[in-house]
Amino acid sequence: MSIVEKFVTMDYGPAPEDPREALTWLDHHHRRFSHFINGAWHPPVENKFFDTTDPSTTEKLADIAQGSARDIDAAVKSAGAALPAWQSLTPHARARYLYALARQIQKHSRRLAVLETLDNGKPIRESRDIDIPLVARHFYHHAGWAQLLAQEFPGHEACGVVGQIIPWNFPLLMLAWKIAPALATGNTVVLKPAEFTPLTALAFAEICQEIDLPPGVVNIVTGDGSTGEALVAHPDVDKIAFTGSTEVGRAIRKATASSHKKLSLELGGKSPFIIFEDADLDSAVEGLVDGIWFNQGQVCCAGSRLLMQESIAEPLIAKICARMNTLRVGPPLDKSIDIGAIIARVQLDRIQRLVDQGVAEGATCWQANHPMPSRGLYFPPTLLSNVHPTSIVAQQEIFGPVLAAMTFRTPSEAVELANNTAYGLAACVWSESINVSLHIASQIKAGVVWVNCTNLFDASCGFGGYRESGYGREGGREGLLEYLEPTWFKQAPQLHPRPLAIDQPPQQIPESSADSAANPPIDRTVKLFIAGKQARPDSGYSTPVRAADGRLLGEAPLGNRKDIRNAVEAARKATAWPKSTAHTRAQVLYYLAENLSQRREEIAQRLSDVVGKQQAEAEVSLSIERIFTYAAWADKYEGAIHNPPFRNVTLAMQEPIGTIGILCPQEAPLLGFISTVMPALAVGNTTVAIPSEIYPLVTGDLYSLFETSDLPAGAVNIVTGRPAELLKTLAEHDDLDALWCFADFATCSTAKALSIGNLKQVFTNEGRSIDWFNPAPSSDRFFLQHATQIKNIWVPYGE
Ligand code: NAI
Repeated sequence: MSIVEKFVTMDYGPAPEDPREALTWLDHHHRRFSHFINGAWHPPVENKFFDTTDPSTTEKLADIAQGSARDIDAAVKSAGAALPAWQSLTPHARARYLYALARQIQKHSRRLAVLETLDNGKPIRESRDIDIPLVARHFYHHAGWAQLLAQEFPGHEACGVVGQIIPWNFPLLMLAWKIAPALATGNTVVLKPAEFTPLTALAFAEICQEIDLPPGVVNIVTGDGSTGEALVAHPDVDKIAFTGSTEVGRAIRKATASSHKKLSLELGGKSPFIIFEDADLDSAVEGLVDGIWFNQGQVCCAGSRLLMQESIAEPLIAKICARMNTLRVGPPLDKSIDIGAIIARVQLDRIQRLVDQGVAEGATCWQANHPMPSRGLYFPPTLLSNVHPTSIVAQQEIFGPVLAAMTFRTPSEAVELANNTAYGLAACVWSESINVSLHIASQIKAGVVWVNCTNLFDASCGFGGYRESGYGREGGREGLLEYLEPTWFKQAPQLHPRPLAIDQPPQQIPESSADSAANPPIDRTVKLFIAGKQARPDSGYSTPVRAADGRLLGEAPLGNRKDIRNAVEAARKATAWPKSTAHTRAQVLYYLAENLSQRREEIAQRLSDVVGKQQAEAEVSLSIERIFTYAAWADKYEGAIHNPPFRNVTLAMQEPIGTIGILCPQEAPLLGFISTVMPALAVGNTTVAIPSEIYPLVTGDLYSLFETSDLPAGAVNIVTGRPAELLKTLAEHDDLDALWCFADFATCSTAKALSIGNLKQVFTNEGRSIDWFNPAPSSDRFFLQHATQIKNIWVPYGE
């Protein structure tokens, strides 16, 4: 037999990793773990424990403490007590602690990798070469951010005590993604690992002890969903960071709605893996192996929907099947295993159930003829072809090694299919044409797009979703902002509560002033502004608008649900605005300011009836200035280029969120409208705005400005009426991408609670009083941040 023949026919020998050191570590802890609170081990108050097991054998590894609300309370108290001292450290001192954590993780890297594989079932090749090195990289990178914090984020402060809840698919990596930025920015932490995989978090707790991290800065409380719920509900937690299922993300959003807790959610995905006919097919197939069979497909950004150009579907499927035949499924501690065990029986059953449903709906199922291990929880790599785009396996996250394949003909059809999901976490585009790839990347609604590569991650590049995949980013500068608040915003006083007049009786008007003959005749009746046109309200009703002294100033239309729906539809269709260049947007805004300046006196005079002469003049002058500010930003609020330690560049693009509904502030009818709608417009969003209830007649002045300033129809829509009723329709509208609400605390809570359906992003003033007349220097950036989301496009270079 020739050497070549031998090479081709040779089988793999066993290459087992030695688990002894990890097992000795478990024995050293008597295979029983308590909570890590205030720098020490504390048994659970209720003395309850649960098993953690090795999914590759289903054997028990250790007893784990089940956290109760009282354990959470002790941990939150400890984090709160540690906060002042941790925050008073110099950035350099915090940087040294983060650096020490990175060093210590590297020193224990092999034991951590083995522990991870034991507890999770992932191949040691992955935990050793991907997970743990990325964990160390994350702490190194954030040690750097801790050092630079004051100079890079002036005027910002930490959120405070942060509650973090992580899943089981990348246990230590998710811990690092959460803890490193939180500590670097001066927060203290209570983290709850997933119930299936607590061991590496507990090993990390020990590392915190080894480097003498001040007690209470990191607390780890183990337990199931109820422990997570207690953490979310705790009143002294200032921020929740969650990674896991969309369903639980929604529950957390609801549970935090009536609090000031800041929230970031990294949820599920159904990411498209798009292969064009000009792609290097062999590379694409290798990419696919990493895209869907990495970590048994239990990856939130797994490329689980294969979209193939029709012309190459047949040869591509043949190549995929051939490659699947060479994947090795087996004990994850074997170094030459590609596919390890599924985390738990419940997940295994779920995968099987979904595959069965897919087949029942018409998909063809193909599985390689692998020898499967006789014990443990395994699922073979699976290809479902002929999948219909509406099939359950094309829509639901399977979270297993299952690929659903579909075809497309044209690039625009590929984009349509790619975006045909409620999720928006990641996407892969394979084409040898850089023009095609970037053109497609720009149209896909996802937080990460990998061009001719897949599943690359780095601490310098933000990761996170669009749409129902959540919001907020982990990694990079944008990831740090999730753990910081501008000081001016955090410390602003609460607005005096002013409930929105949903059923308030009409104001009592003094006889002497109302409708008296001395008053000028009333002829001022404004309309709604929808799709660039003045529109009568569907209800056919108007409501009187009164001056401060009770005089009748005019009539404002009473918009209803239908008007809001029409306005959202118009905003959605107004694609000319998001597609226009930043330069064009800047020009339109400058023109708007110019037109406002031309008409400043008449507008100020009308406004003065409600807010007084002084405020009216200030509102008009400052509105002109504010429009200039956002016109200036329109072509300057740009992204960044990252240089992760691979042969690629990552383009961090600032993209508009889409269509934003805005409840404008009550207290400054013109300036409040301009200060909130302009930042959204400047970066290419379209809007539906509800103007101030105290002077909805401002709508007339605004639309006459918009009509004469070359603003494309539908970019701004204005609906007047009862704000509480309109806000509810906006919040519940499933085609709206974000809701902004500037009102009292109760109204902001309502906005958050009502908008959980499609998980739209919510930005509120938290019921705080924002000084629209004297904004903090960083406030325009703050608004622009909320008006955009970052898409990271990874572009490789080299042969
Ligand atoms: P899960 O979302 O229930 O669990 C994630 C974490 O949240 C765990 O630490 C869990 O204890 C905690 N948790 C559960 N209920 C909670 C609650 N009400 N309040 C606060 N914390 C709570 O995910 P699960 O059940 O482990 O997996 C179910 C499905 O979720 C998977 O099949 C997959 O589709 C998806 N998933 C997505 C992940 C992602 O990274 N996007 C990660 C894990 C699961």
